[in-house]
This record gives sequence, structure tokens and C-alpha cells, in this order.
Amino acid sequence: MLSVKNLSTAFDKKIVHDNISLNINENEIFGILGGSGSGKTTLVRQIILLDEIQSGDIEILGLNIKKMKFKERDYIKHNWGVLFQFGALFSSLNVVENIGIMLKENTKLPKDLINDIAYTKLKMVGLDASAGKLYPEELSGGMKKRVALARSLAHDPKILFLDEPTSGLDPASAKAFDNLIVELRDMLGLTVVIITHELNTIKNVLDRFCIISDAKLIFTGTYEEAINANNDKINKFLKLQKD
Ligand SMILES: Nc1ncnc2c1ncn2[C@@H]1O[C@H](COP(=O)(O)OP(=O)(O)OP(=O)(O)O)[C@@H](O)[C@H]1O
Ligand SMILES: [Mg+2]
Repeated sequence: MLSVKNLSTAFDKKIVHDNISLNINENEIFGILGGSGSGKTTLVRQIILLDEIQSGDIEILGLNIKKMKFKERDYIKHNWGVLFQFGALFSSLNVVENIGIMLKENTKLPKDLINDIAYTKLKMVGLDASAGKLYPEELSGGMKKRVALARSLAHDPKILFLDEPTSGLDPASAKAFDNLIVELRDMLGLTVVIITHELNTIKNVLDRFCIISDAKLIFTGTYEEAINANNDKINKFLKLQKD
């Protein structure tokens, strides 16, 4: 589904990725872990064509993104949905308008169809139709995240990228959001890539994850494998997440 090969990235003289390689399988919920500033968001931005690849290769859905033609880039962009780390909703648009905005701007679908799609996605993320006419300022933190998730699902992507989706949520809302991600993966056959540092998510939601530490990939595998690795750096990292 997605493979990163020998990726190296540096800004000024700071090395952010030092020869990183990883594979993400179809239908898997894969986590990217690492301390603040370890290059997690940058990695996702490179995958979704927002940041340049300085060295190495990334393949997504069988296409090498450095070698893609314009048409292929256009095609590939319709195959992923993104929930940005600080991805805010448009405050001047109501919930259904927020969910439908990408379809409005990037397709020729009629207005009423976009509206129908938006209400379907709203339901899909567990919100009532009555929330559709509300404005972002009228939503709770958990509802905002769900609306942002609905927006990232508007065009039926195959891969979903979520950058710290539950940060700032209370534990109960975070757990509910986690459950929703698993449900949607099962229901829609999505592949999900989550940047997270939440231990509950790491334990209960991710099928596998990788850890970036000092610009290097120090681990890729399951939670059990991470525990069994008996590696100080990995242990320290997982324990650190408990605080
Ligand atoms: N376009 C850029 N120009 C210069 N430096 C950049 C650029 N993008 C990212 N960086 C730097 O690269 C490093 C990694 O940033 P990134 O946002 O990927 O970290 P992160 O792992 O997502 O951190 P956090 O957990 O805090 O979100 C940081 O030191 C950041 O300042
Ligand atoms: Mg980040």
C-alpha cells in the first residue's frame, strides 16, 4: 500500500530522517511514534506531496511519487484523506458545508448531492443529522474531531492519515474516537496511518507501529513485539508515553 525506502531529510544542518524505510500494508492501522520534532508530520507531508523528498523514495498504491506524472498526482490525491495536526474547521461554514468543501471545490457534483454525501459522512462518524447546521464554535472538542474526520472521508479515500487525532480530548472522548477509527477501518476497508503518542491508542488500536528516535527508525512491529524486544530505548519510549 505504502512503502518508504531510504528516506533522508535535513533542514539546514539538522537531520530529521536518517535513512528511514518502512512498509504499510493494506487495511492496517499503522502508527508513527516519536518525540516532538522527530519528523513525524514531515514524513506524512512528504507522503501526501506537500513536502519535497530530499533523498530516498516513497511508493503509494504502486506509484513512485517522485516519478509520478501530473495526471497520476491528481489521481493519487483523490485516494487519501488527511486530518491535520492542527486541522481546523472553517469557522464561517457550518458542519455540512465543512464536510462538503473539498467536493465543492474539486468536483462538479451538484450541490444537493454534496449535501447528501456530507450528511452520510456525518452519520458515519457517529453524529446526528441535527449537528449538520451547527457552526464549529458550537461544537465540543470531540465533535470537531469527528467533523474533521467526516471531511477527510468525503471523497471515499483508500488511505487515511491522522496526525495526533485525539490530542486535546478527554480520555472518554479519545477512547470513543479510537473505537470509531477501528470501526471505519473495518467497515470501509481503509488503511489508516496515525501519528500518536497516546498509550491507549498504541496498545488498543494500532496493528503495528514504528518509532523514530534521533532521526532513525529504531522499531517497526506490534505492541507485543515492542515489549518483547527488551530494548531500553523502546521501553523508555513506551513508558514515557504513560506520563
Ligand atoms: N519546512 C521546514 N523548514 C525547516 N524546518 C522544518 C520544516 N518542516 C519541519 N521542520 C523541522 O523538522 C523537524 C521535525 O518537524 P515535524 O513537524 O515533522 O516533527 P513532529 O515529529 O511532527 O513533531 P510534533 O510531535 O511536535 O508534532 C522540526 O525540527 C521542525 O522544526
Ligand atoms: Mg507533528
